[in-house]
Amino acid sequence: MNYTIAVIPGDGIGPEVMEETKKVLEAVGRKFGHQFAFQTVLAGGAAIDAFGECLPQNTIDVAKSADAVLLGAVGGPKWDALPGEQRPEKALLRLRKELGLYANIRPAKVFSDLADASPLRPEIIGKGLDIVIVRELTGGIYFGKRGHVETEFGEAAYDVEQYSVGEIRRISRTAFEMARKRRGIVSSVDKANVLESSRLWRKTVNEVAEDYPDVTLNHFYVDNASMQLIRDPRQFDVILTSNLFGDILSDEASQITGSIGMLPSASLTDGNFGMYEPVHGSAPDIAGTGKANPLATILSAAMMLRYTLNLPEEADAIENAVDRFLAAGFRTADLSGGAPDALSTKETGDRVAAMI
Ligand code: NAD
Ligand code: IPM
Ligand code: MN
Repeated sequence: MNYTIAVIPGDGIGPEVMEETKKVLEAVGRKFGHQFAFQTVLAGGAAIDAFGECLPQNTIDVAKSADAVLLGAVGGPKWDALPGEQRPEKALLRLRKELGLYANIRPAKVFSDLADASPLRPEIIGKGLDIVIVRELTGGIYFGKRGHVETEFGEAAYDVEQYSVGEIRRISRTAFEMARKRRGIVSSVDKANVLESSRLWRKTVNEVAEDYPDVTLNHFYVDNASMQLIRDPRQFDVILTSNLFGDILSDEASQITGSIGMLPSASLTDGNFGMYEPVHGSAPDIAGTGKANPLATILSAAMMLRYTLNLPEEADAIENAVDRFLAAGFRTADLSGGAPDALSTKETGDRVAAMI
């Protein structure tokens, strides 16, 4: 089969990890007889430098017409002084909104060969810790009203957290459906002891839960949830939460697994369409050094094969190759505490591609 993939390398380490991901997809194509046509387009800082805008219309058009979208990461110090609307990050937010990608799936899994990379004691992570964060991605404070006002204490700025019943219902369904195929537990995370939007969130999640009597639902306040993730991460199966809390908790969860360089994500619509991106950012501190771990993006490509292109064997081939790469003792710098024999971004991509 032929597939068209819109590729948005982005900034910093984005293009570096994307290069290796394409290499691995090409190896999958050779093995299974597929053609992946990569249509590379710009967004973020790269687009600002080339076209003077963070998200050119052509990028949106190419993304919409492709079978799926792969994104590296956007942003960096070079563009940090720009006004909010013009920043590279705005491109990502607009893409998510324009493509209707409201369901962000962020699995945080401890690979058995990486247990030693986790800062948590072995008895806390147990064997094969496996959590999925289901993060609402096109609502909440990221997209609420914002602005500046004058107050008695001087200039003030505000960002509004707002959630509708419809938005909460659809992301809740995503979480409950996912829990059904897993260990059957949904942990909804909010701040309902303080926020009105969280109280509506909790009420609506409870209503949706009535359609899923086979799934166990519990609720956590976000401060407790962030503590419980470290104290006893194994109590979680599917974590259902808002845009902002999901952003924060997924970086926290990544560390339990050893490195944010390992965490993939899928951003999905109601249908099968999706954009796939690592959880991490453009890592300006290591860009250009060959130290970036490309596995998060490579594993995001595996999620793309599974969820959007409906190619489960091909997705397995990537995930198995990563397993064997780790089992063979290969480590990138982030996983080895910077050991001198750590593999570079390119060496990692070469080896994983060869293991397909
Ligand atoms: P970051 O995730 O880029 O980096 C945090 C730390 O993790 C850094 O020390 C970095 O070196 C390390 N790290 C991240 N990915 C790694 C990888 N693949 N391999 C090895 N180490 C890795 O977060 P930040 O520093 O807060 O943000 C940097 C820029 O990225 C900002 O402009 C931010 O807005 C942007 N950002 C973009 C995305 C995205 O495009 N999806 C996500 C997060 C942050
Ligand atoms: C992420 C990132 C983005 C977010 C930023 C870059 C807009 O941190 O994908 O986790 O906050 O959603
Ligand atoms: Mn984030």
